[in-house]
Amino acid sequence: MNPSTFLSILFTLSLIFISHSSLSASIINFKLYQVVCIQYGIRVSPNIKGCLEALQSDPRIPSAENYIELSIFILEQAIKNSTLSQIFLKNMMKTDPSPAIKECATQDYTGIINAFENALANVLHDPQTAINYLHRDLGYAEGKCSAALKDDPKPYFEVNVLISHVYFYTAVAELSLNHLIDQ
Ligand SMILES: *[C@@H]1O[C@H](CO)[C@@H](O)[C@H](O)[C@H]1NC(C)=O
Repeated sequence: MNPSTFLSILFTLSLIFISHSSLSASIINFKLYQVVCIQYGIRVSPNIKGCLEALQSDPRIPSAENYIELSIFILEQAIKNSTLSQIFLKNMMKTDPSPAIKECATQDYTGIINAFENALANVLHDPQTAINYLHRDLGYAEGKCSAALKDDPKPYFEVNVLISHVYFYTAVAELSLNHLIDQ
């Protein structure tokens, strides 16, 4: 058996364990953020490695002891990341005040950051409401920025990259929050 076949069998086995119960996942000792990144790999995008590396950049994440902690740390990272993106966009607006950049840099990123903050405020007592903020308010702001970019004749590649980070954090935050709902 070549190493990549072996790895893919191992990977498949781990998916079976994880999909069957969180108990089995704990028997093979996955950390919680690794469980979330494997779910991300199955449901959202195959880049599990990118997910692990991004989340590990907060040293608290690998040692999160429950999904409440993990959800809080992920949302805090999301807020930090989106705040830096908004600063980048506001600087960009100084030299390129196109309608799309203005729209994203002001209203939309403010909406995105507020939605992550409202989700964070609800993790402990109402994870479903936290998810609703991600779907409704954040989805709305993100959609407006994406639509404005699409309407603009310039490609704005780097802004689309920033938006893809928002998608990433929304997806992993929701996957983590889901563990607080369907036990
Ligand atoms: C935002 O998050 C993405 C994905 O984790 C990462 O690649 C990027 O470097 C982050 N941006 C900043 C400014 O930290």
